[in-house]
Amino acid sequence: MPSSSHNSDSSGSSELTVALVGPDEQRLRGVADALAACQRGAVNRAHLGHAFEAGVVVQEFAAYPSDLNNMPRALMQDFDVVIIDLDSDPEHALKLVRTISTKSPATVMIYSGQSDVNLVVRSMRAGAREFLNLPVTVENIAEALARVTAQRPSSRPAKRAIARKLLVFLGSKGGCGVTALASNFAVALAQESGQSTLLVDLGVPIGDAAINLGIIPKYSTANALQDYARLDGSFLASLLTKHSSGLHVLAGPDAFANSLPTNVAIDKMLSVARQNFEYVVVDAGSRIDLKGTAVFDSSAIVYLVTQVGISELRNANRMITQLFAPRINSVQVVINRYTPRTLGFDEEHITKALTMPAQWRIPDDYAAARRTQNSAIPLALEDSPISRAIRQMARTAAGLSEVVEKKKRFGIFG
Ligand SMILES: Nc1ncnc2c1ncn2[C@@H]1O[C@H](COP(=O)(O)OP(=O)(O)O)[C@@H](O)[C@H]1O
Ligand SMILES: [Mg+2]
Repeated sequence: MPSSSHNSDSSGSSELTVALVGPDEQRLRGVADALAACQRGAVNRAHLGHAFEAGVVVQEFAAYPSDLNNMPRALMQDFDVVIIDLDSDPEHALKLVRTISTKSPATVMIYSGQSDVNLVVRSMRAGAREFLNLPVTVENIAEALARVTAQRPSSRPAKRAIARKLLVFLGSKGGCGVTALASNFAVALAQESGQSTLLVDLGVPIGDAAINLGIIPKYSTANALQDYARLDGSFLASLLTKHSSGLHVLAGPDAFANSLPTNVAIDKMLSVARQNFEYVVVDAGSRIDLKGTAVFDSSAIVYLVTQVGISELRNANRMITQLFAPRINSVQVVINRYTPRTLGFDEEHITKALTMPAQWRIPDDYAAARRTQNSAIPLALEDSPISRAIRQMARTAAGLSEVVEKKKRFGIFG
């Protein structure tokens, strides 16, 4: 069985959790890379006390929260350290420093390409404890983090676990709509949660989730899986394609591979993905052969996608009663292309066939599905009965209320 020891679902652990907040991609990468190098041990740990014994978990935020009176809960509660880009908008950044340092237990640091003494003083007065001058070296960041851990009170209450989530879409049969649902769910989740979200396409030998989203990937899971031994956060980041919604995508390969990836390779890839993203959504196609991998880790939520048809419902029944019986609480049945009162199948029959009620019903909308395929604009970006249903699923997964405010599209980061 795969190990889930790297994800911090169960953390109350001594891992140091770090949020990196910076709208400028290049500057953010500079700091992120230095942090990643700390984790890889490119720095002499012996001199740094126990700062890195348990590891550093980093989450990136690609925008400043716009409403300081209504800060994302995650940013206020989940992190030991929040490192903020000063230069993108110094006045807003300083207000952000003040808000976090007064209202949250996190230690706040600033990074900046400017070495204006005045700015350093203002940052410190706002509550920043460290001022990291760009380019940041591994040693700079390691020392700054070591000072934080040295000052951490030992009686500090255990921090709230970062509720990282693995959300897996599996079809009871090919063509049930797994790719359509997984990719649109991932877009909606990225937008509604405002958190880092990754879609991994493991569906078929040749991936089509990227096509569904209208993006053209340069790299794919094949690159990650072939070279899994050296896979880490920055290697993974270099293989991703970003969708306009903010969703990151690790596409499926565009050619047949000579050999199948091993379970070890898949497990490594998912573990790196989960360390680096708040939400990892997997298009697992109908691949029940992934059962022995971390894709079906006991902490994953499995969306079992089926349609109302004899073989689809029978297959779903076998999966529920034979494959997932021991962890049925984390399985949610999604009936796709649902039309009420399909001939011969009423609700009661469906529940009986499945042995459990379906949680989600996605309406049949040929026109909308067709439109998105022609325009390459994901369903989730338009308003239709399908997108509303998918958005509800995403909001529920993100722990948000079920009511969708009208026109609310970009979640907490406005
Ligand atoms: N709710 C729906 N209404 C109409 N068409 C749909 C719906 N869901 C999926 N489709 C269409 O069904 C086809 C198969 O869907 P796809 O997501 O590729 O299935 P899978 O990944 O399970 O093989 C696609 O053409 C897709 O656009
Ligand atoms: Mg598919």
